[in-house]
Amino acid sequence: MGAIDITSRDKMEGESKVNIEEERRGEAEHMKGVRHLYDAGVTKVPGRYILPASERPHIVSCGDTTSTHNLKLPIIDLSLLHTPKRAMVLEALSLACKEFGFFQVVNHGIPNEVVQEMVEVSKRFFGMSYEERAKYMSSDLQSPVRYGTSFNQIRDRVFCWRDFLKLNCQPLDSVLPFWPSSPADLREKTIAYANGTKTLFMELMSAILESLGVDKKFLSEFDDGSHLMVVNCYPPCPEPNLTLGMPPHSDYGFLTLLLQDEVEGLQVQYKDEWVTIEPVPGAFVVNVGDHLEIFSNGIYKSILHRVLVNSLQNRISIASLHSMPVEKVIGPATELVSESTPKQFMDTDFAAFLEYISSTEFKKKNFLESRKLTCTREQRTEGQPC
Ligand code: OGA
Ligand code: NI
Repeated sequence: MGAIDITSRDKMEGESKVNIEEERRGEAEHMKGVRHLYDAGVTKVPGRYILPASERPHIVSCGDTTSTHNLKLPIIDLSLLHTPKRAMVLEALSLACKEFGFFQVVNHGIPNEVVQEMVEVSKRFFGMSYEERAKYMSSDLQSPVRYGTSFNQIRDRVFCWRDFLKLNCQPLDSVLPFWPSSPADLREKTIAYANGTKTLFMELMSAILESLGVDKKFLSEFDDGSHLMVVNCYPPCPEPNLTLGMPPHSDYGFLTLLLQDEVEGLQVQYKDEWVTIEPVPGAFVVNVGDHLEIFSNGIYKSILHRVLVNSLQNRISIASLHSMPVEKVIGPATELVSESTPKQFMDTDFAAFLEYISSTEFKKKNFLESRKLTCTREQRTEGQPC
């Protein structure tokens, strides 16, 4: 009996050693990100990326994200802001921020070649060897450059199917030496693009303040405002029904200016459904972030959005997130608070947000919810005490 015990225990120990080894190897592989998995020829989504069934995307047919649920967002022609049609454009902007929290802009003033060169250098960055990209990995959320996979690969329970390069763009002179030195033209192309998006952001904020009836002097608060650029890479995924490029989330800043290539994938929540935002060549997708929802005292909406992946095409997107300087406290604008429209959110600062995301899994609209002072419509209809 003893002999049998010893033999079977040895066998079990031997097997579990093999399993642990295999697990470790798998772990190390997926910590290298999805571009690495794709380059290695992965044919199945590794377990760490598989979402619980209730959180999966329900893609109509595998690899085809074109469904009947496409949404044509309002397209705003910014060249009209400088014509007698300005008032009409402000009205369209205001409606879009209330109804969708999203809109697209064309004739935005950023030269096409600046945009194209940014997309192209981003593709070359993700096309470099893993070792080259990994030089920029960091677990410090405030590092001027951060390369990684998922959202927070140290904490995320389930990984999402994206790799990212995050570049802090403010203040440019001091962050620049930390940016990747290869591809050799990355810094030059990214500076041109960052300057273009900053100018566009300022123009949009000026229009948004006017549409809200808030004093324009507030605009100077953004001169040295935070500016984060996130280059997202979504390689083809063998089983796109099991995972997401990004789970449902809202963005923290005032506005996000998103450049998506010709491959669709971005979905926003609209009337309780996920709808796909069709790429419009040369346009930017602009969305209201949590800080603008707070600042507008809830008038403009920071809406949940997510990203689908597909089995055929690589997708690149570049998000520019703009807000006030990180040390500033953000609260509802005084012009928008009155007896009939009481303050809906607590004042907040960037430190509170960073603390929030590093202490919990980055998910859904929880940050904004955590700053709410009054009860939500859902709570009211459910009759819950606030
Ligand atoms: C983001 C984001 C959407 C996309 O970077 O916050 O929502 O299409 N990106 O990549
Ligand atoms: Ni986003």
